[in-house]
Amino acid sequence: MRLIAGNWKMHKTASETEEYIKSFLKFVEHPESREILLCPPFTSLYIAGKLLEGTGVKLGAQNCHYEREGAFTGEISIPMLKELGCEYVIVGHSERRHIFGEDDELINRKLVACLEEGIRPILCVGEKLEDREAGMTFKVVETQVRLALSGLEEHTDRIDIAYEPVWAIGTGVPATPEDAVSVHRFIKELLKDINPKNEGRTRILYGGSVKPGNAGDFMKHSEIEGLLVGGASLDPESFAKIVYSF
Ligand code: 13P
Repeated sequence: MRLIAGNWKMHKTASETEEYIKSFLKFVEHPESREILLCPPFTSLYIAGKLLEGTGVKLGAQNCHYEREGAFTGEISIPMLKELGCEYVIVGHSERRHIFGEDDELINRKLVACLEEGIRPILCVGEKLEDREAGMTFKVVETQVRLALSGLEEHTDRIDIAYEPVWAIGTGVPATPEDAVSVHRFIKELLKDINPKNEGRTRILYGGSVKPGNAGDFMKHSEIEGLLVGGASLDPESFAKIVYSF
């Protein structure tokens, strides 16, 4: 089933989350026809979990730590997320990589922990503008995928991957659906090389300036198995239009 996920990033207080979810749920029908996921900030997960219970709309977090508990001031563990109803966690988002310095090794440790703890990670990969201009898109994506999945070759069916070109995030300039499809095909081939037994069992989502007006153009392509939406997921009606764009 295809997955449409909203990554709110650092937006919305708990009370704004409550208002959003009450409004969004009015737009939700046939939740069984697609997977719908909301990823609010940590401080909104409790209220979101309560409001989404039994609705078919799923809850995810934007980050996690790889240890179950310990002296890690300011960090949040996977058991903490699961208790609030999170089924998903975004790992290695480009903002985590480029603003907060997360490297491939840390991202790999987080993925290992996600699989051990039983939460489904959405691994984010994508090239910067200078990589694309230097013709390095496939190389950069390959390195990110291989390092992130190192030691997890058996479990590629328990992970989703979001291809989010960094230059398309928050810029209003999405990749063309054709460019996205070519990277998605490349990632699919790569995954087949990593573990042929799991061929076709890892969903590849696209993210980067997805809006109600272009979501359908991406979802026309069978290689695009979902969307990871930032800015346009912050308004319930706009996100609902994206969810029902296909
Ligand atoms: P925008 O949809 O705001 O470009 O953000 C994409 C993104 O980073 C989702 O994780």
